[in-house]
Amino acid sequence: MQLSRLFGIPRPDQELRRRPIPGYGETLPVVGLGTWQAFDHDDPESLVRLRTVLELFHAAGGRVIDSSPMYGLAEEVVGRLRGDVDPESPNALDFFTATKVWTRGDSAGRRQIQNSFSLLKEIDLLQVHNMLDLKTHWPYLQELKATGKIRYTGITHYTETAYDELMEAIRNYDVDFVQFNYNVVAREAEKELLPLCLEKQVAVLINRPFAGGSLFERFRDESLPAWMRKAGILSWSNAMLKFVLSHPAVTCVIPGTGKPEHLLDNMNAGRGELPDEETRERIAEVFGG
Ligand SMILES: NC(=O)c1ccc[n+]([C@@H]2O[C@H](COP(=O)([O-])OP(=O)(O)OC[C@H]3O[C@@H](n4cnc5c(N)ncnc54)[C@H](OP(=O)(O)O)[C@@H]3O)[C@@H](O)[C@H]2O)c1
Repeated sequence: MQLSRLFGIPRPDQELRRRPIPGYGETLPVVGLGTWQAFDHDDPESLVRLRTVLELFHAAGGRVIDSSPMYGLAEEVVGRLRGDVDPESPNALDFFTATKVWTRGDSAGRRQIQNSFSLLKEIDLLQVHNMLDLKTHWPYLQELKATGKIRYTGITHYTETAYDELMEAIRNYDVDFVQFNYNVVAREAEKELLPLCLEKQVAVLINRPFAGGSLFERFRDESLPAWMRKAGILSWSNAMLKFVLSHPAVTCVIPGTGKPEHLLDNMNAGRGELPDEETRERIAEVFGG
């Protein structure tokens, strides 16, 4: 935990904000961790760095980790690095583990899900990746939930073109979680999708909060405006994540990173005040959204 001292883990009075999973008693910390690309490495150097990322994430109060069989080695690496899942074990990192099924056909889906269980050791939330063959996979997801093998079911996508399909699925399937893209310059979800999630009481995970990282490029050499600092925003990453989190329908945002310094930066977005309506619009304006 040497690194955590270097980068500054919060004091107990700066705990991560949590939000409830609608319809359930459980709450989740609002900043999670995405694993696409970042966790698709298993060389010794990467494994040391990624274990540090997981330790810092856990120590900062983070719990929600999102993966998928589509992400190469990511499920295997998370499973290896999280240690023993027994909470009594000294090296255990207890996470809220979310993964996905991403294939066509019932038997292929079952096989893939069983493989994810063996790699990740436990799964809390199982999502249908990009809603691929949703109708076929759904009965098995419900069976896994009914028998206590998973606790929540969900659906995902990452583009605006899928919003109609997502909304149809929210209306027709008993989903606990919906995961989709939303950020300072991609605000289409505010029109119908986010309000529908609020109305239907569905938990919302937000992917691509930095548009895959491209939103950092313009601001790499620019310092943060003073008014952002006054609003409790400590970095460009915080501005983007706090914008997302200030929408009332959002349960948790899952920025992807494999770098300890980025992880700690991102976790700060879950602390302190969130932007009010006026500040939200000012943030969006800076990014051109
Ligand atoms: N269909 C789906 O279900 C779907 C689709 C897309 C994504 N997702 C999920 O959502 C997660 C997030 O989306 P994403 O990874 O595509 O995009 P993202 O979170 O918008 O951006 C990730 C990029 O931002 C960089 N980054 C992260 N924190 C940073 C910081 N503080 N400062 C500077 N750069 C930073 C990362 O690089 P470094 O590694 O160098 O930090 C990475 O290149 C994914 O990892 C995945 O779990 C799901």
